[in-house]
Amino acid sequence: MKDFKKHILITGGAGFIGSHVVRLFVNKYPDYCIYNLDKLTYAGNLANLKDLEDKPNYRFIKADIVDGEHMLNLFAEHKFDGVIHLAAESHVDRSIANPMEFIMTNIVGTVNLLNAAKFHWQNDHSGKLFFHISTDEVYGSLGEEGFFTEETSYDPHSPYSASKASSDHLVRAYHDTFGLPMVISNCSNNYGPNQFPEKLIPLFINNIRNNKPLPVYGKGENVRDWLYVVDHANAIDIIYHKGRIGETYNIGGNNEWKNIDLIRVLCSVMDEKLKRPAGTSEKLITFVKDRAGHDLRYAIDSGKLQRELDWTPSLQFEQGVSLTVDWYLNNQDWLDEVTSGEYLKYYEEQYVKR
Ligand code: NAD
Ligand code: DAU
Repeated sequence: MKDFKKHILITGGAGFIGSHVVRLFVNKYPDYCIYNLDKLTYAGNLANLKDLEDKPNYRFIKADIVDGEHMLNLFAEHKFDGVIHLAAESHVDRSIANPMEFIMTNIVGTVNLLNAAKFHWQNDHSGKLFFHISTDEVYGSLGEEGFFTEETSYDPHSPYSASKASSDHLVRAYHDTFGLPMVISNCSNNYGPNQFPEKLIPLFINNIRNNKPLPVYGKGENVRDWLYVVDHANAIDIIYHKGRIGETYNIGGNNEWKNIDLIRVLCSVMDEKLKRPAGTSEKLITFVKDRAGHDLRYAIDSGKLQRELDWTPSLQFEQGVSLTVDWYLNNQDWLDEVTSGEYLKYYEEQYVKR
């Protein structure tokens, strides 16, 4: 068997962002062995990684990070040098409906991985790294002005963001208490291919294509900072290789949009691509009850990452949206497959009974 330079565990690699990170690492680093560990929840889909199945430096492990003993055994078996930890329950609305899954995966699962890394790396920290992927939502909500920096105090409001905040604190605690080599990144809203259509952009693309209502929470005045997923994956690559141990890096698109404005852009791009008369999709906009505890505005200051590690987003938003819409329209089978079964039950609970 080939001798690999590094053995890197990527958790949640069958999900949206994870699949882009796995693809980048497998293709860019043929001398790394990449282990994609995923439980394959409703959000995990191996079809996202079909192109990698035969690559000699790619392995898939179906496992649940909540199983601590299994994590210890996997570290013993594969001698991971690095962990890029993306596995999580990631959808805010689901965390409001069912917080416990978020506590188990996002908090207990993260601690299980930390314990396995701590145990197996205790005698030699050289070349080891635990990279925890987190979110800007841990910082809470901004008013009309200002940005989240790495020094902003944590103030999470949803069970999802509170569980991610908790996991961030635990990763830092393992560094400060046990010397575990770690780094954390906190990123803004991602969009792009392979995102499960419960999140705003793919949900609305799917509903427009099916002429279904576009459920805008509240008045659509909440603001998010959008980043193309491939730019997030590139940032993760740079931070993994060049980030300073013990540090946090914010990642963002410098691309703020009020939901309703973004939705109007999406409607107009969809009308154009589907060759429907201008204004057709906007008629589907329906204002619905607001999300409980809905954070008003997120905006990231990613100056530290840009200055220290020379990262910048590569795509303008208009380009990113056009690429994204093209991807979903060219992959309607993917959309149909992931929107059957369990998803239909979720959709019924979330929107039809709202
Ligand atoms: P996703 O929901 O698309 O994917 C999550 C993946 O984790 C899925 O493949 C799922 O099967 C897997 N998973 C869930 N529970 C698991 C468990 N117990 N054991 C093993 N695998 C499990 O999420 P995403 O949007 O790709 O987000 C990935 C990470 O990035 C998350 O940690 C999220 O908090 C963070 N993040 C996401 C965004 C965003 O906009 N999507 C922004 C910033 C940070
Ligand atoms: O900021 C980073 C976070 O972005 C990540 O940590 C999360 O994992 C990711 O899900 C995302 O969270 P949001 O709650 O911001 O994303 P979502 O796509 O669910 O919603 C975006 C905005 O659109 C938000 O203000 C709620 C609104 N919305 C969402 C849905 C699904 C609607 O108005 N209608 C909807 O149907």
